[in-house]
Amino acid sequence: MTAAASWPSVEGLAYGGDYNPEQWPRETWDEDVRLMREAGVNLVSVGIFSWAMLEPKEGLYDFAWMDELLDLLHANGIAADLGTPSVSPPAWFFHQYPQARVTDKNGTVMGFGSRGMASHASPEYREAIARMAGELAKRYADHPAVVLWHVHNEYGVPVGEDFGPRAVESWRRWLQERYSTLEGLNAAWGTAFWGQRYGDWEHVVAPAATPTIANPAMKLDWARFTDDQLRECFRIERDAIRAHATQPVTTNFMAHQSWNTDLWKWAQEVDVVSDDHYLWSPDPDAHVGLALSADLTRSVAGGKPWMLMEHSTSAVNWQGRNIAKRPGEMRRNAVTHLGRGADAIMFFQWRASRSGAEKFHSAMLPHAGASSRVFREVVELGGHLKDAAAVQGAEVQADVAVLYDWESLWAQDLEWRPSDDVQFRERMRTFYERLWRDNVTVDFAHPSHDLSRYKLAVAPASYLLTASSAANLTRYVEGGGTLLVNFFSAIVDENDAVHEGGFVAPLRDALGLTVEEFLPLREGDAATVRWTRGAEVELPSDVWQDDIALAGAEVVAEHASGPGAGRPAITRNTHGQGTGWYVGTRLSVGALRTVFDAVYADAGIETSGLPETLEVVTRRGAAEDFVIAVNHGDDAARVPVAGIDLLTGTETDGELEVPGGGVAVVRASRMSGGGAD
Ligand code: GAL
Repeated sequence: MTAAASWPSVEGLAYGGDYNPEQWPRETWDEDVRLMREAGVNLVSVGIFSWAMLEPKEGLYDFAWMDELLDLLHANGIAADLGTPSVSPPAWFFHQYPQARVTDKNGTVMGFGSRGMASHASPEYREAIARMAGELAKRYADHPAVVLWHVHNEYGVPVGEDFGPRAVESWRRWLQERYSTLEGLNAAWGTAFWGQRYGDWEHVVAPAATPTIANPAMKLDWARFTDDQLRECFRIERDAIRAHATQPVTTNFMAHQSWNTDLWKWAQEVDVVSDDHYLWSPDPDAHVGLALSADLTRSVAGGKPWMLMEHSTSAVNWQGRNIAKRPGEMRRNAVTHLGRGADAIMFFQWRASRSGAEKFHSAMLPHAGASSRVFREVVELGGHLKDAAAVQGAEVQADVAVLYDWESLWAQDLEWRPSDDVQFRERMRTFYERLWRDNVTVDFAHPSHDLSRYKLAVAPASYLLTASSAANLTRYVEGGGTLLVNFFSAIVDENDAVHEGGFVAPLRDALGLTVEEFLPLREGDAATVRWTRGAEVELPSDVWQDDIALAGAEVVAEHASGPGAGRPAITRNTHGQGTGWYVGTRLSVGALRTVFDAVYADAGIETSGLPETLEVVTRRGAAEDFVIAVNHGDDAARVPVAGIDLLTGTETDGELEVPGGGVAVVRASRMSGGGAD
């Protein structure tokens, strides 16, 4: 096996999208490549759903059309990201191997006629994907168009879990490896509760449909198992490719929108991290979620440039109301990704499909054709990315780490929590949005990571926090860090068991408190908090109050109403060289402002004072900085920067005006510290 490259060999920033020419007559391909050139496309993803075309019958391959396609792309200077089609095995496969279908938790076997993962536990599926990936790699290892391998498509979506008999066998093996003995498993799952004790491995079942909730520790392990199995399938294909080819291998993640995949682990397996992101249309500020997803992707990539593998030029087709992007919005979205570390800007998909489930999905080349607004904007964006090519390789630096752990998401999402209104994703987004509105650039980090380079670490939703991660956070504070912890954090260990010593006990030293009892509010009830540090302010709160048992922390705010009235709500604790803050209620983005202003002061973070709708991120190159600004407001806004806007050629010696809805990519001489924020 030869070491793979860590970035596809494409000149400049990569630009393009999924390309499915098998849906079109041959003459359309010529028009496609002509228009791709016009748009500045230099990379397309092909073959992702092409298994039935590449192997029309078991063992009978037809690579002629793929040869022709890759040759055509190469002749036109367009590189290929070659997919392995394992997300969509052909009809013959399921006919031949019906046992390779996925079974859902109610025992329903999923039929053919859609798309999605076959059973990850099926030996026939595993053998078939290894064979197909190997055949493709053998044939195209040296094809000059192929610069990247795109294994599968969005692991875990639409289905990740499989409750079929094969999966249950793998599950038992997986548990035996994890726990060695049944005593180990019984202890970890707390099976003394409800008489669930196992006396034989054969009696262990999957957490399928049960009369009432299934053992939460079992379900948490099931999530780990599912993630592990999907990753095993990825490795099978990756290794089959690497046996023949040296181009880098990726698979497209769905950072903040995925559930089944622990991307801290996945990122270790790929040569280059790539991600898909789609705006969530019910959210009028969906661009904040986009920025979160981009920062999370960059963070799992270890800060290295990453690829935006898919986003949309306009509406998607799979939400309740599919909102079209307004003029300039696609460009803002793309430039946000660029600013947050993406060196490839790609779309689903090049040409809109006439048939099938996604015919109402936007594309780079929409049904309306090349004379459409969308295509004009696609061409314009291609030009921008050429102009901004110098950004390539520059890295984002942040002073703040937001703690994100998929295991904690899985655990918190289980049933029978103190309040349905406490949601991991909602809290993550709200805390992130506060930082986003303050133009404070953040990385995401796992709570076990070394945080010493950050001035501030924020834990919006660390329900599951192991004793060793808590010790890591405590050391961080001792060493001078500022830690901000939100309520319902440090509650359980890796087995979803409440920490000995009670809620928040593992962070008692860092925060100077524990929590005696949760006091959630009734649905829709509102409360307030009286903030008394510096100025006295009344802040709205809802959903939750903690009954805090102080152990040294100073009270900076009290619950002014609700079940916890008169009790501490927000606290600050000095520990070692650092400070531990705790927020014992649910605060909105607006209310968090008071808290963050005080926390920034402790952490030595200066905010920019820029308008909240102006997003500014700095990417640091070898010798220069790139200040990337996206104006989400309607009015022009001024960015304090000296340099040249690569998109317009405008030179500025102190302030650049970015029009309402506009963007800028300014090449600036090296700035001090972390950048414009
Ligand atoms: C993605 C998927 C694409 C396409 C797209 C539509 O999640 O990878 O194949 O279905 O959604 O938005």
